[in-house]
Amino acid sequence: MTAQLLDGKSLAKQIRAELAEQVAKFKSESNVTPTLAAVLVGDDPASDVYVRNKRRDCTEVGIESVLHRLGADTTQTELLALIEKLNSDPQVHGILVQLPLPNQIDTEQVLEAIAPCKDVDAFHPENVGRLVQGRPVFLPCTPHGVVELLKRNNISTAGKHVVVVGRSDIVGKPLSIMLAQKGADATVTICHSRTQDLPAVTLLADILVVAIGRPNFITADMVRPGAVVVDVGINRTDAGLVGDVDFDAVSKVAGHITPVPGGVGPLTRVMLLINTLNAARTATK
Ligand code: GUN
Repeated sequence: MTAQLLDGKSLAKQIRAELAEQVAKFKSESNVTPTLAAVLVGDDPASDVYVRNKRRDCTEVGIESVLHRLGADTTQTELLALIEKLNSDPQVHGILVQLPLPNQIDTEQVLEAIAPCKDVDAFHPENVGRLVQGRPVFLPCTPHGVVELLKRNNISTAGKHVVVVGRSDIVGKPLSIMLAQKGADATVTICHSRTQDLPAVTLLADILVVAIGRPNFITADMVRPGAVVVDVGINRTDAGLVGDVDFDAVSKVAGHITPVPGGVGPLTRVMLLINTLNAARTATK
């Protein structure tokens, strides 16, 4: 291994310690406890773990979290009614609906029902639009986590060629926009399943971000020596949790690389805490 490890786990711990101080200060000044409502529908075991981890992080920094657990047969009407209730509850500052939702649920309609000022995932079209226009209220958690991981490791994106593999609404699309904006100033290329000669493109990357959801998809021959490689993927395989990057091989070529787990994931969760604190601040103004 020659690449330097981008340790998201310890960085996230450090940021949570900073956040705990900010939350304590906010609480003592406002007498308000920032509160996140987490909505978990059905019994997907992975979602269960994600929500448990998010709630544990909340506790660590002094944010209150309330879990609303609904059965796998929940109807659209029932879920929308819960969201309406949370929207109008002044004690709830952030609403997180864990994805994916069961098949009978129209996910877009649910995400659009969340009040934009409580949309701590930043999935609502209003918040996506604000992001595109460069005047966000909330930044989406995973892209923000990637940006913060680079920043706090002194990896500048200005003038760099960033290649993003994956065009999802949650990661690839918003991250590409954020990195191309003023301040980040990267030159961004987005690749996807229909990209021709993908290795020819990924080999151009100073910084390669991979969020495509396929285990060990990026191999060493696709990475320029010395490049920064950020692996957003988490895939459950017989060999356990693996990323979208063939870590063992790529870490011999890359200059920096994120591990999976312990790379981007912990920072994603930290960004949710930051959004919840900011939502509480705005509601209390
Ligand atoms: N499922 C996978 N990633 C996410 C995320 O960032 N937010 C929510 N709510 N659900 C997810």
